[in-house]
Amino acid sequence: MRKMTTEFKLAPSILSADFSDLGSALKICDEGGAHWIHVDVMDNQFVPNLTIGPPVVRSLRPRTKKFIDVHMMVVHPEELVEPFARAGADNITFHIEATDDPDEIIKLIRSCGCKVGISIKPQTSLNDIYPFLDKVDIVLVMSVEPGFGGQGYLPGSNERISAIKKFLSDNCLDRVLIEVDGGIKLHNAKEVLSAGADVLVAGSEVFRSPEPIKTIQEFYQLSNVNGN
Ligand code: DX5
Ligand code: ZN
Repeated sequence: MRKMTTEFKLAPSILSADFSDLGSALKICDEGGAHWIHVDVMDNQFVPNLTIGPPVVRSLRPRTKKFIDVHMMVVHPEELVEPFARAGADNITFHIEATDDPDEIIKLIRSCGCKVGISIKPQTSLNDIYPFLDKVDIVLVMSVEPGFGGQGYLPGSNERISAIKKFLSDNCLDRVLIEVDGGIKLHNAKEVLSAGADVLVAGSEVFRSPEPIKTIQEFYQLSNVNGN
């Protein structure tokens, strides 16, 4: 495999994997060299789809050493933090739109020993998350309406990523990672990285590929975004 030329991390989303064979999905991520495993949690209320709960994460945990990145798209995130932490999540991300008290959830996730992520839907003002970025590790920028894999990357997402990047830089918060989720493909990954992404989530591009291991490797073979 060619040497990685960028510092970004790839987080394949198992939402697009075969749910009857998640062990194979983890193996694909291992063999391809992906950094993280992205787990999409949907409650059929915050989004019109129902997916994975803590028992599934508990089953995945002993099968991988990779960073398990839990993306909660649920209306009561505070109720699921401890169950996901106990199940073995490394990071827990909640949606700003799902709570009136982000500080409480941030504290709860921290108290469980997990990294903290805050996520924002495409139509939500960035001003809603700015007050909390000094307290989190990851900001997960949705580049599709949450709910389903396989959608197209929304125009305007790159501008939102760049604005967050500038805010982080202006406030000496460069340690906060920008993760981008939805519609990431090999053909647009470079522009998303150029806009400021540190972590790319990719579901359908990886797991609906005829050669998913090769597809993961191809993400890492993207040429250096700085042109070096
Ligand atoms: C959508 C999920 C995404 C999804 C991305 O609500 O949060 O993580 O799996 O899938 P693709 O990469 O197919 O857009
Ligand atoms: Zn996601």
